[in-house]
Amino acid sequence: MNDYLQQMETFARQNKIPVILPPTREFLCNLVASKKPNSILEIGMAIGFSASCMLLSYDKAKVVDLEASLPNIALAKQNFKALGLEDRVEIIVGDCIKTLPNLVKTGQKFDMIFLDGPKGLYVDMIDMLLPMLNDDGVWVSDNVLFKGMVRGGKPITEHRYINTVQTMQKFLQILENHPKLNTKTLDIGDGLCVVTKKEK
Ligand SMILES: C[S@@+](CC[C@H](N)C(=O)[O-])C[C@H]1O[C@@H](n2cnc3c(N)ncnc32)[C@H](O)[C@@H]1O
Repeated sequence: MNDYLQQMETFARQNKIPVILPPTREFLCNLVASKKPNSILEIGMAIGFSASCMLLSYDKAKVVDLEASLPNIALAKQNFKALGLEDRVEIIVGDCIKTLPNLVKTGQKFDMIFLDGPKGLYVDMIDMLLPMLNDDGVWVSDNVLFKGMVRGGKPITEHRYINTVQTMQKFLQILENHPKLNTKTLDIGDGLCVVTKKEK
């Protein structure tokens, strides 16, 4: 990881902006480097850390990034510029539950999707994201094992986590039992769900 990315990660942790954990970064970077996706859709950009990591792993990749927080967007733009990545990122500003349906309508498809946005909406996004994934694309979702509370028996420590835990359980149940998908749930970072489409 280069010095600037390291600074971004430190800034995020100091300012309590959640970004991907180191094992997740390593997994994503390896995946991008081997799969070479030309087009990536990310839901949840924050300050652009994961997007920058992915873009620096394959120099032909471009990212369409959905983000609602204006302060995060301002910081992400600064970061992309500093890394010389600004021409490879299109930022769609606003609540993804509103901006995603518009993106679906454009008919755009992606070689890779990285879902790292509002956890309570993961289930609602399934039917929007699947049609946007190319037949040979890969869709990775973060936080699906949420602090070990989704599987593995760790108790739910705070009332406010109940919705997230239940959403993730439903999300995994749908994707793991989907007849047209290959789904692997990996105990990496906060839990990654990796989906590809079965051959027709
Ligand atoms: C976990 S952070 C993303 C971290 C980023 N992927 C990284 O690792 O560098 C989640 C982001 O989703 C954004 N977000 C939350 N709810 C959203 C919504 N409804 N629409 C769009 N963005 C949202 C938050 O503002 C936050 O920046």
